[in-house]
Formats: sequence, C-alpha cells, structure tokens
Amino acid sequence: MNKPILQVDDLAVTYSQIIPALRGVSLTVPQGAIVALLGGNGAGKTTTLKAISSLVRAERGELTGGRIAYSGEDVTRSEPWTLAERGLVQVLEGRRCFGHLSVEENLRIGSFVRRPRRPEIESDLERIYTIFPRLRVKRKAPAGYTSGGEQQMVAIGRALMARPSLVLLDEPSMGLAPLIVEEIFETIGALNRDEGVSFLLAEQNASIALRFAGYGYVLESGRVVAHGAADELRELDALQDAYLGGTPVDYGARRTNRAVAATSA
Ligand SMILES: Nc1ncnc2c1ncn2[C@@H]1O[C@H](COP(=O)(O)OP(=O)(O)O)[C@@H](O)[C@H]1O
Ligand SMILES: [Mg+2]
Repeated sequence: MNKPILQVDDLAVTYSQIIPALRGVSLTVPQGAIVALLGGNGAGKTTTLKAISSLVRAERGELTGGRIAYSGEDVTRSEPWTLAERGLVQVLEGRRCFGHLSVEENLRIGSFVRRPRRPEIESDLERIYTIFPRLRVKRKAPAGYTSGGEQQMVAIGRALMARPSLVLLDEPSMGLAPLIVEEIFETIGALNRDEGVSFLLAEQNASIALRFAGYGYVLESGRVVAHGAADELRELDALQDAYLGGTPVDYGARRTNRAVAATSA
C-alpha cells in the first residue's frame, strides 16, 4: 500500500485552556483518496482540520497531544504557510472570500504561497476557469456579490491555485442548493480522479460525502465513534440521525460486520 499522505494519531485539542474539543482523534488519508470526516454540529470536524493545518492557535485552541504526519514527515505544530508551501491547504468553513475583491483577485491570492512567475499564474487561472466555467463569467465581479455556490467555487479555486496535494475541505455543501452541491462534489471527484488530489472532507451531509469518499470517520464529542469504507458506513442508517442532533447513536451496537466501531481512548 502507498504511504498515506496524512496520518493523524491521537489528536487532542483544548480551547481557551478549559474546553476539550478533541479527545484523541486518529485518522488516515491514503495517497490519492477522498476521506470523509462526518459528524453533527459541534462534533469536532472543523477543529480536526484546523489542528492539522495549525490554524487552531488562531482561535485560542491548543494542541495538547497527538502527532500529525504529512507525506511521511512529522508536521505537528508546523506553521500554516509552511504546510501550504508543501501542498497541504485548507478551505475554511463558510467559504470565506475577500468580499470586496474580485473573483479573480481572490484566486490570485491562492497562488502567493508558491511565489510563481506571472505566466504560471495566468495558466493556473485558466485551469481554474476550465474547472469552474461560472467563475470565468464572474471574474471581474466582487466575490461578495456572487452566489453562495460561486463563493464556494472561489474558495476551492483559491486553494487549487496553490497546486495542492491534499485539500482539507470544511463543509462544502453548507447552505447550498442540492444542484450546486452536486456540481461542487462532481468537481472534487474529478480533481481526485484526474489529478490525484487527495481530500479530507468534513461534512454534516453524510449521504453526499459518502458517495464521493472511499472511506469515512464519524466524530462525536471530539472522538471517532465509527469508521469504515463508505459502502459500509452508508449501511449505518443510524448515521443520518446523528446529524439531526438526535440522541447519540450506539455505533457499537448498530455497526455492520465490517465497519469498525472505534475503541474509545
Ligand atoms: N474558537 C472556539 N473557542 C471555544 N470553543 C470552540 C471554538 N471552536 C469550536 N469550539 C468548540 O469545540 C467543539 C467542536 O467544534 P467544531 O470543531 O467547530 O465542530 P464541528 O466543525 O464538527 O461543528 C464544540 O463544542 C465547539 O463549541
Ligand atoms: Mg465545523
């Protein structure tokens, strides 16, 4: 088997020194895979992604334990820009764009970590416009005046301008109409299939995430409560309940034969 592009072991994160958000999260993203990180609101998905990309500190969060290896090298507590230079980029939740800058200016910002030459930026922009034809049409428009779906495309396009190997993508479906969600996931699937970009995909929308991901982890209260191949996780019909904020599901009892219920730490 290929060396995993991302290996996370036993991550623990505390906010403001008292609020435990992650209590020992371990996961693996194989090279060239799409892995889903599922769970309801507050489960710890965003914290996991931000711990990996070293952005938790900006939120008064502290990594109190665990190890992160990217392409086989320990990157625990690396600076976010060092990781971006090495091809690990995050698309933040809520598709944050610079609203007053144009779509194209937003995209150009994404290339800065590579300090590319001008022709290279132009050809990368062309590539993004081929991937997201809507952005070509809107390239002069202030990003803040485009639709939610277009802003998500800008956010993903900006990440792609860094020519990433691994994208940490936080809730791409949030607040978007089903057709746009479909379009965005098709694009993620194509980037993965055609260019080998790996994705760690945080989603509350398990059904769409598991159609595109090969493997998934389910988080609850900062712990991995189940993980398995996408087909196996889909059979956990109880999975959907967890996203509606219902009663905690006993994954141990409901798991299918092959999906693994994680042992708690
Ligand atoms: N900046 C923060 N300060 C304090 N607590 C936070 C902060 N961000 C998240 N949390 C808490 O950490 C837990 C995990 O949140 P989060 O990672 O955002 O979950 P998810 O992305 O799955 O919705 C929640 O209990 C949340 O309230
Ligand atoms: Mg979140």
